[in-house]
Formats: sequence, structure tokens, C-alpha cells
Amino acid sequence: MRHFINLKDISAKDLRKIITDAKKRKNLRKKLNTLETDKGAPLKGKILIQMFEKPSSRTRISFYLAIKQLGGGTLTLRSNELHLGQGGESIEDTAKILSTYGDGFMLRTDSDKKIENFKKHLSIPIINGLSPSSHPTQVLSDIFTVEEIKKKSISKLNICWIGDSNNVLDSLIAASVKFSFKLSIGCPKKYEPGKKVRDWLKKESKKIYVYNDPKKAVTGADVIFCDKVISLNDKGNKKKKIKTFKNFKIDKKLISFAKKDFIFLHCLPRGDEVSEDVFLGKHSHVWQQALNRVHVQKSILLYCFGKLR
Ligand code: CP
Ligand code: NVA
Repeated sequence: MRHFINLKDISAKDLRKIITDAKKRKNLRKKLNTLETDKGAPLKGKILIQMFEKPSSRTRISFYLAIKQLGGGTLTLRSNELHLGQGGESIEDTAKILSTYGDGFMLRTDSDKKIENFKKHLSIPIINGLSPSSHPTQVLSDIFTVEEIKKKSISKLNICWIGDSNNVLDSLIAASVKFSFKLSIGCPKKYEPGKKVRDWLKKESKKIYVYNDPKKAVTGADVIFCDKVISLNDKGNKKKKIKTFKNFKIDKKLISFAKKDFIFLHCLPRGDEVSEDVFLGKHSHVWQQALNRVHVQKSILLYCFGKLR
């Protein structure tokens, strides 16, 4: 049994194995309908319990499809429907119950500590479906999408992130170490990666490039990633933060500094951080990116259930 909480805690070899498996599985089911099961139904009879403390469209649906295509099923819960969410039951008891009924647990939460607490008391794997510090299933799937479109290892590409130092960027930074790619970040000074991330990078002897000028960050990029300026767990002055990011909007002018054949990716949902013409333009692959979450999460589930080939 393996958990999937943070990319930085999973070996580069295992992460690469997940991507390779996802590629094979995606190819093998080209002629299958959405709910048809992969050959061998490797998770036949298994149930993934998903719990959301915050909204989700993509993560919820893609995990539903992922386990379905492997022969299993899901039960989706909102925390406020549980005694846990109402303050009437402990994490320890809830974890025991989840382990009794379920085979895997996916949690989207506003507390990294809660994930660690669940991990301590569960006897089934836990998957982080977004926390304040990490969005690992999103970013691993994005690595897959980049390699699928660019047809080369991400280690040979210049990756750029324009935006806040949020959970998605934290996972992208972890991925830059695991998959050895060059990462340039464009953000206002106030929103640069924090000390914890910088200390970890130092420990890993990894250099990332942070610019307060978006043009510098985008120059020579093969891939431009971005995300909403305001995240689900943001509690500060939102209007002020959006204003600080005004010069970081990804528009026609900014993308002219990237390589001619660059690709644009966005995990969604989107806000004002990208112009409509870039988001829907020829460089954008956001719908393929969203779909690939199904394929990569299947291999993540197999990894957690000890069934990765
Ligand atoms: N990208 C992503 O995780 O989307 P949802 O919030 O809709 O799950
Ligand atoms: N950074 C965003 C990602 C949403 C998928 C958030 O945490 O809200």
C-alpha cells in the first residue's frame, strides 16, 4: 500500500513508472467507450471513497472515470455530510470506518495536517486531491501532457510558470526536481516561493529561476503554465492581490517572448490571469490537459493499490 500525498516524497523512478503506465493504458483503450473497462479490470471490486471539503469539477469526475475504467467504483462524499465535518467524530474513528468500508481514500482539503492525520489512522492508501501545499495528481498529469504533446522528455524543455506561488506551483517545483527540468517563474516579489520550498530546493541542490518581470520568465519557454491568482484557500485581500498581478496577465504580447511552438497549459478553473485569445488559441491544450487526468490518475491508483505493472 502506498500513499500519494506529495510528489517530493515519491521516488523519481516510481513517478516515471506511473507516466509510462498511463501512456500504455491510454493507447490501449483508444477504441473503448468512456465507461468500458481496461483489459484485465485490475481494480475489479475496489472502491475509492472521495471526500471534498472544497469545490471540484475535474478532480471529482476524472477520479470517478479513472477507477471505473479499472473495474472499480467510487463513492463521493462532502465532509459536511459526515459526523467528522459536523465536529461529532474524530479523524481517527472516521479513518477506521473508511478503512473498513473502502479500499482507497481521496481527500481534497484545506488542511495539510488533516491529510497527515488521516494517513496515520488509515489502513488504506490516501491520495491528496488538492491541499494548501500541493496538487500532485494535477501536476503529474501535466508532465504527461507536456511529453505527449512535445514528444520528448520534459527534462529537455524550458518550463515557465506565470502566477502565484500556490499549491500547483509547489507541486511543479517538486516535479522539476524529480524530472530534472528547467523551471522559470514569473511573479511579483511578494508572491515568490516561500522559505520552506527554497530550503527544500537547496537540500536537493536544485536551482529554479524566479523573475519579477514576466517577459524574462517567458523568454525561450517551451511550455507556459498558469493558474488562478486567487486559490480556494486564499484568505487575504483578494482585490489587492489581483491588482498586484496586473502586469502578469498572459496575453498575445507576453507570449511573443516564448518559443514559436510553445504550448499553453492551465489546470482550470480560470480567472483573469489569461486573455481569452490565448486561452482558446492555437497554443493552448487545456482540454487535452484536463482529459489526461483520467489516464494518469488510473496509474496513480494502480501505484497506490500495489498493482502498477
Ligand atoms: N484542476 C482541478 O483540480 O480542477 P477542480 O478544482 O475542478 O477539481
Ligand atoms: N490553485 C488552485 C488550483 C485549483 C485547481 C486552488 O487551490 O484553488
